[in-house]
Amino acid sequence: MIPKIELHLHLEGAAPPAFIRGLAAEKSIDLSKIFDADGAYRYQSFNEFLDIYTAATSVLQGPEDFHRLTRTILSESAAHGVVYTELFLSPDFCGGGDIAAWRDYLAAMIAASDEAEAQDGITARGIVTAIRHLGPDQSRPIAECAAETAGDYIRGFGLAGDEMQGMPADYRWAFDCAREAGLGLTCHAGEWGGPQMVRATLDALPVTRIGHGVQAIADPALVERLAEAGTVLEVCPGSNVALGVVPDWPSHPIARLRDAGVKVTVSTDDPPFFHTTMTHEYDRLVEVFGWGDEVFTELNRVALDAAFCDDATKDRIA
Ligand code: HPA
Ligand code: ZN
Repeated sequence: MIPKIELHLHLEGAAPPAFIRGLAAEKSIDLSKIFDADGAYRYQSFNEFLDIYTAATSVLQGPEDFHRLTRTILSESAAHGVVYTELFLSPDFCGGGDIAAWRDYLAAMIAASDEAEAQDGITARGIVTAIRHLGPDQSRPIAECAAETAGDYIRGFGLAGDEMQGMPADYRWAFDCAREAGLGLTCHAGEWGGPQMVRATLDALPVTRIGHGVQAIADPALVERLAEAGTVLEVCPGSNVALGVVPDWPSHPIARLRDAGVKVTVSTDDPPFFHTTMTHEYDRLVEVFGWGDEVFTELNRVALDAAFCDDATKDRIA
């Protein structure tokens, strides 16, 4: 199995339905409306996905729950050959942006990551993530949480959530705060907002990576700009198919972006929500685009180069 590098994985979005159901039962929280008859997460649109994501997350109520979740998802990732993963972590779900609370939650996630490293051989690092649809004001304390805890484990800052709300420039303060703390920067864009949102992101924010970015394909000049700047796209093809960003795997632009010289990487985003795993993503890329081991080796090299961890960690993993 090729050792895999994953750059785009939302911690809460990686929670298996059974894990969330178990916590809900322990706490007597009724979450039946977010599951279908087969016990899978149920949603019919991106906005419904965001709603049930938030509902599922409501059962995660303290550092111990986040310890269990982190430990669970890292062993799942390791089982699919992932040796290094960057987790999007949301202080909004961990004390609402209060720094003291965030430190407690983070300590639990780091402890679980250390256990996973020792037991499963997977290295994890964190990207603190603000949630766009909570608005620019709320992104400030989240960026401060990121800046205050920047170090060996917290390596980046990002923006996820509904990209149709507000503009990237509205989040400039948060990105500047994170950059001054030495953090790597990434922003979800061009999943839903078209090439113009990718452009607006590159114009307004000093990011080296874009979450998704796939809608750039509609604008050849933008594709050229991404290739020339060496901007890395955190592409999540199975997520895009499941949410209807693209109609099916054969129409996914990942191969065309790569052929145009754009640095692409492969991640799962929120695997149980999208019925995917890193193994499944790779298998589909082999089937649909005929990619061989040499392509995956290159993709993983690009991903490790673009990772936000320090060079000693990269050398150890390479
Ligand atoms: N897109 C935007 N925000 C998100 C996602 C996603 O796929 N998953 C979790 N937050
Ligand atoms: Zn995402």
